Amino acid sequence: MNVLIAGRRRSFRTVSFDVRTNSVRLIDQRVLPHRFEVLATAHYRETAEAIRNMTVRGAGAIGATAGYGLAQGLRAFRGGDITRFRARLEEAYDTLKDARPTAVDPVNALNEVRAACNPDAPVKDQQSAALTAAERFATDNVEHCRRIGDHGAPLIRDGATVLTHCNAGWLAFVDIGSATAPMYAAQAQGRRFTVLCDETRPRCQGASLTAWELAQQGIDHRVIADNAAGWLMQQGRIDLVIVGADRVLGRTGEVANKIGTYTKAVLAKRHGIPFYVAIPLSTLDWNLRSGRDIPIEERNESEVLGAWGVPSSPARRPGKSKDPLTYVRIANPSSHAVNPGFDVTPPELITGIITPRGIFQPDQLQALRESAR
Ligand code: MRU
Repeated sequence: MNVLIAGRRRSFRTVSFDVRTNSVRLIDQRVLPHRFEVLATAHYRETAEAIRNMTVRGAGAIGATAGYGLAQGLRAFRGGDITRFRARLEEAYDTLKDARPTAVDPVNALNEVRAACNPDAPVKDQQSAALTAAERFATDNVEHCRRIGDHGAPLIRDGATVLTHCNAGWLAFVDIGSATAPMYAAQAQGRRFTVLCDETRPRCQGASLTAWELAQQGIDHRVIADNAAGWLMQQGRIDLVIVGADRVLGRTGEVANKIGTYTKAVLAKRHGIPFYVAIPLSTLDWNLRSGRDIPIEERNESEVLGAWGVPSSPARRPGKSKDPLTYVRIANPSSHAVNPGFDVTPPELITGIITPRGIFQPDQLQALRESAR
């Protein structure tokens, strides 16, 4: 998407690969919206760490990053010993896969890159096939989001108010986003609407990232406290909910997404408001048979017990070279917290799943299984 930096509009992808330096280039999402920085990881372990520490986050973006990370690890291998090369492949695969557990996109990306490497082929050929597959995953991700926009845009009528949770925008993908794709498409079609961004405690991806994205795109929006949605729905001030997902079970239609998504789905059902989930095909998990089996990330309690921000006065902000964020403790000093990062929404609360192939009922996803990309 286009980003306005120091008065200049420039086009960026959230994740890209620099062939010359064998590095993965990432927009640093930890410091947005206060600073716009792109960093490069030089080693697959560094790339895995960038996923773990949330330099890059969002299912589609960490999927593309993992795919590039695996190609990066393989391209750094020197020599022609196939046995050692395959050991490197498995080691890099596991390191990248273990960086964050809930999203399935990284697993699907890693599987695509691994499958592209013919174990009988010379090292050089496998290295080049790995990068081609990683690039394909990233390009597919963009194309899938574009098609989600085509299918989802008609849901947003002129004058509507749309609620979204967390960040399922272009920062959570390679470009465009899933929940935001219908918004960007509706905007391009000339419709005017308002987006309510749940702030999304504890890390506030809605308040910081989605609000920044929408501001960059000139879409009218407001940040709301996470617990405001019920009241606003009761008042008739929300027409539609669109969220993304980290893992959708193809067999059951259950949806794992950022903590708080389930609460919003229950509220939407209570108030008769359509609740949609927008996903590329790489977010589908065809293996798990129950939402109870989805690994839910438990995160550090510091996220709940405090918050990160910048002083409101520019004069009190740290200089360019320093981390712009300050952590402030909110909770009682001796108290501890519980911090599940994701929840699982059952299919009966979901109006439809917006995919690149159209909008499906959660119990009709099987139809996508055999369809070609
Ligand atoms: O912890 P995060 O910021 O990686 O969580 C991201 C979300 O939950 C998004 O809503 C999700 O990835 C769907 S959009 C790809």
